[in-house]
Amino acid sequence: MTPRQLLHSLSLADPSLRASCAAVYGSSPELLDHACSRLWILARHYADTFNYDDHVVVVRAPGRVNLIGEHTDYNGLPVLPMAIPRDVIVMASRSDDDLVHVSNVDPAFPPRQFKIEPLIPPFPPGDWGNYVKSAVQGLINHWQTTQGISGLRMAISGNVPVASGLSSSAAFTIACALAVLTVHQRSIPPLLFAELMAHSDHYVGMASGGMDQATSILARAGACLKIDFFPLRVQPVSLPPDTTVVVCQSRVKAAKAANAREEYNRRVVECRLATALLHAASPRSDRVPLRLSEWLAWDCDGLDDALARINATLHPEPYRLPELSRLLHQNPETILSTLCATPAGTPCHEPPDGFHLLKRARHVISETRRVEDAFSILSSTPPDAARRFGELMNQSHVSCRDDYHISCPELEDLVTAARDAGAYGARLTGAGFGGCTVNLVPSPLVPHFVDALNRSYYVPRQLDHLPDNIFVFQPAPGAGVLLS
Ligand code: GLA
Repeated sequence: MTPRQLLHSLSLADPSLRASCAAVYGSSPELLDHACSRLWILARHYADTFNYDDHVVVVRAPGRVNLIGEHTDYNGLPVLPMAIPRDVIVMASRSDDDLVHVSNVDPAFPPRQFKIEPLIPPFPPGDWGNYVKSAVQGLINHWQTTQGISGLRMAISGNVPVASGLSSSAAFTIACALAVLTVHQRSIPPLLFAELMAHSDHYVGMASGGMDQATSILARAGACLKIDFFPLRVQPVSLPPDTTVVVCQSRVKAAKAANAREEYNRRVVECRLATALLHAASPRSDRVPLRLSEWLAWDCDGLDDALARINATLHPEPYRLPELSRLLHQNPETILSTLCATPAGTPCHEPPDGFHLLKRARHVISETRRVEDAFSILSSTPPDAARRFGELMNQSHVSCRDDYHISCPELEDLVTAARDAGAYGARLTGAGFGGCTVNLVPSPLVPHFVDALNRSYYVPRQLDHLPDNIFVFQPAPGAGVLLS
């Protein structure tokens, strides 16, 4: 289909087009009109920027909200997220050069262009075009060649709030990668696609795990997913009956490109240092674990034993390089260039307040227990499933705040307000340092909940005029092709 034909079909409210949209966005007239008007704007933008008569494909990839399992993924330990009905849509076609031309309908993201080559040099740090580059680079790495990959024209439209902990960047990267695949009539099995996109954030200097990309690709409508890593596997499971997921924006920007990225990468390094110390203190296996998941599998008898070892081995005071050097029998330079070099390639210097290893390891292992418990509650749905799941969410928040130090005063106010308004559970979600909270709310209470949060959080801060403060989300389907 060409943009011209698509605009024509949209103007006639073509039933087959509306049916494709309904399969993704739901069949209520309001949702369908919204989806069609986004497509209309995208097709107009494509046509005005590039050409009315290109044969185009249209693909989409959603953002996600994590219900429980925070900062466990890069430790190889499980998470329990769901995709959200907010996504990035890409309209794309082949170009006759070897350049990728990208244009976003939102003028805040100026047009970008880059050459397809084996090692694509990044734009300056923080440039949005790097998320497109990371997608293309991920595919080139997979195919180990640029042969057969032609240039592309891509028009992009996204409605996942940026820097809010809802994975706008993963939605972006996955949609762009899917556009490249679809334009070239190639495909990669979903699990493999998720695995190879897992490290796309490393291109932008974030040592992130893989939850966001896996959720965006593998999500199922109406379900959340338990995701395990190494090897990657997913198990869909339903939310407790009569509950609704409500997400609230704190309006504190958790920009990955800025210092939140350093704080995030520091947590990754702290977990690696903790893994090294725990293994050095009582090795059971000859294999040297690189992640807490490996230490757990090779050196421990389950989660209780792991927690006991953490409490017995690590001290609460922050660790400094000389002590690490002594305990690990490595000189400080080696530690800095190995354990402290994040998988994203960015070095992590010793923080002024030292490395907090006991708290970080304790959070990751206790959070793993909460994910396992949450999954078993959701799988067996006892009568009090919602209350028990909510309680685990609350405990997760406390651990994220007190042991992982990723909360902030605004997130604290939001979770307090949510519990006061009747949520079963409320917690920060995503990397933290701002962004959103996720709340499990009794479905009949949702209108009251939204109103109460508005009155207690947004009105006093004069934020209530902003759109998108509070979202009521049904679990959305994963990435896919809308038109090919
Ligand atoms: C970010 C990362 C994920 C994950 C979360 C924290 O969203 O991209 O990989 O680590 O933070 O759970």
